[in-house]
Amino acid sequence: MPDKIAIPRTLYWDDNALTILDQTALPERVSYEKQTGIKQVWESIHALKVRGAPAIGVAAAYGALTGLFANLALPVNEFRELFIEQANYINTSRPTAVNLSRSINIMATLAKSSKATSAKQLYDELVACAKTIHNEDIEMCRKIGEVGAPLIKDNCTIHTHCNAGALATSGIGTALAPMYVAHENGIKFKVYADETRPLLQGGRLTAWELHQSGIDVALICDNMVADVFSRGKVNLSIVGCDRVAANGDTANKIGTLGVAIIAKRYNVPFYVACPSSTIDFNIASGAEIPIEERDGHEISKLFNTYNPAFDVTPNELITGFITEKGTIMPPFAVNLKLLRH
Ligand code: MRU
Repeated sequence: MPDKIAIPRTLYWDDNALTILDQTALPERVSYEKQTGIKQVWESIHALKVRGAPAIGVAAAYGALTGLFANLALPVNEFRELFIEQANYINTSRPTAVNLSRSINIMATLAKSSKATSAKQLYDELVACAKTIHNEDIEMCRKIGEVGAPLIKDNCTIHTHCNAGALATSGIGTALAPMYVAHENGIKFKVYADETRPLLQGGRLTAWELHQSGIDVALICDNMVADVFSRGKVNLSIVGCDRVAANGDTANKIGTLGVAIIAKRYNVPFYVACPSSTIDFNIASGAEIPIEERDGHEISKLFNTYNPAFDVTPNELITGFITEKGTIMPPFAVNLKLLRH
């Protein structure tokens, strides 16, 4: 639960079920949806009812357990197989954010190695593991906020893209975490949130959650970023990420690459905020990051469309990574290794 900010929680585990805040209804409606079937969980992640890399990592961990409470009478090995089948299925719901497959891998590894002698014992171990993933996310967000807050000086202006805030995590966000901590510390600043077409995560979610928290936020259209940066109106851009390759190339919401190019052109520092778990050391460069392609109807019902959901920003356009373990500066191929677990 975000501390000291007025945002409804993104998800919770209660009564042996995952409940999510339906983000497709925001900001008009704050409504929660209990997940009662595994297909429903898959759809909720795929349809972005729950979204943002860290939040889908947590949702996947709990979500893979959906309905299993009703199967505790099964022999432990059958129960294990059922869980692994569900986990593998949830793993196919979205491809780009490494947090999802990371959570599933942690849970599946536990299921395979557990010495539990009953389904109930294995179930309890898996629930505890999902809760640990959840709590770690909350802690990471707070630490990222504390590491990044000193970048935010009194009266400065910050730009952000998409939503990497409380709604994208179970804590105070990643890109927005330094803003929440600076705000708590009494620093005065302004945020430009771009709309983030086609699904408007910036307009519907970032602007809403910053406004709810009493932070001065102005919404701009995506095509205004260059103009706003060119007029010297922005001191700093901070974005989130879905997967960082070992060389620092970074996948984030479509449009991030454009922002990074504009930031370079106008000498605006461009930071990526991320938990170290978002770095995929198995991938050498951004060329290997799987980019989700979504239904063209999200753009238009009338024309042929091309609708990639993420892009990759080459490492040379990134000023630094704000992580829970400190800020990492270039050369990234060397310095990101400091974050290896
Ligand atoms: O498609 P979405 O809304 O899940 O995309 C979210 C983003 O691109 C975020 O910037 C990223 O996941 C980081 S969230 C802390």
